[in-house]
Amino acid sequence: MLSNKRLLLLPGDGIGPEVMNEVRRVIDWMDQRRHVTFDLDEDLVGGIAIDNKGTSLTDETLAKAMNADAVLLGAVGGPKWDGVARDIRPEAGLLKLRKEMDLFANLRPATVLPALAEASSLKEHLVSGLDILILRELTSGVYFGTPRGLTENADGTIEALDSQRYTSEEIERIMRVGFELAGKRNKKIHSVEKANVMETGVLWRRVATEVGKDFPDIDLEHMYADNCAMQLVREPKQFDVIVTDNLFGDILSDCAAMLTGSLGMLPSASLGAADESGRRMALYEPVHGSAPDIAGENKANPLATLQSFAMMLRYSFDDVENADLIHQATINLLNRGLRTPDIMQNGKELVSCSHIGKALCEELDKLAA
Ligand code: IPM
Ligand code: MG
Repeated sequence: MLSNKRLLLLPGDGIGPEVMNEVRRVIDWMDQRRHVTFDLDEDLVGGIAIDNKGTSLTDETLAKAMNADAVLLGAVGGPKWDGVARDIRPEAGLLKLRKEMDLFANLRPATVLPALAEASSLKEHLVSGLDILILRELTSGVYFGTPRGLTENADGTIEALDSQRYTSEEIERIMRVGFELAGKRNKKIHSVEKANVMETGVLWRRVATEVGKDFPDIDLEHMYADNCAMQLVREPKQFDVIVTDNLFGDILSDCAAMLTGSLGMLPSASLGAADESGRRMALYEPVHGSAPDIAGENKANPLATLQSFAMMLRYSFDDVENADLIHQATINLLNRGLRTPDIMQNGKELVSCSHIGKALCEELDKLAA
């Protein structure tokens, strides 16, 4: 029984509200059938918050997120807000949430479900059974490094500056999470950087090697980020856990997502450090964006968000049983042949976003019967 767990829903923009509706369906199911009850709250983030409150993340919304036991976010952004000032842009709201909640560990698992091995852009034998985890550092690096900005030079040219900055402490804490996760998986870790070109890469490699000494049973390999991108599409099954910085993690996780058939399948968890009572702040979100081109058409794939909800049950609430139930129900509905357009294959049944949500509840019913 999980009552009084405070869960904040932030549907956001584009397809965010649609995919979140399907999670609500599963939350209701959990309440009625499994006696898993949440203390639910909902608020605005991203473009919709700009429209209604003048900024993409208000202090009140941030405070709610910090006080919740977990936050589930849909997606932010869209062309409507392209002209908005950088500091209040939809993306700025998301980055502020990550930074203020100190969610430094971003887990992006890429697993290929048997029913979808054919939907991958790679040959089936390269991806079938794939199960890798990208661990992305989320609160530092070039996303947040200073100085940054645009300046005009004396000769009238404009100069843009971003700073890639990491401290040994920041690298150490993400590496430790990586080694701990690898210990529960296949005991293999790839530390990914550009030590051949970047100072942050040199430090990253040094700290990874140091931390590795505390985990003698884990096999640590160093890899350059460009090589990693190539290896991900050449032989993805060589990886177990990939630990990398904020920018490389952003890029490599999109790449890994596609191996699974669609960006619409990938969930993520962003976790902070545990306090004395073991509580950690956490935000769960699909890796895909707001997909403004299909927003409001009931065509989006809600499975990444539903899997993000399952990750929340697993990591924030230790509810492995119900997380596994959602995972199995997902496999079953895909085996039934139901597909949203992004994962459509020959001979399968093309269905809508809400159809997938309903079918998931039907499969949950069968499993729980
Ligand atoms: C992601 C997204 C974000 C990022 C954007 C929306 C700011 O691409 O979560 O991967 O770059 O981190
Ligand atoms: Mg991204």
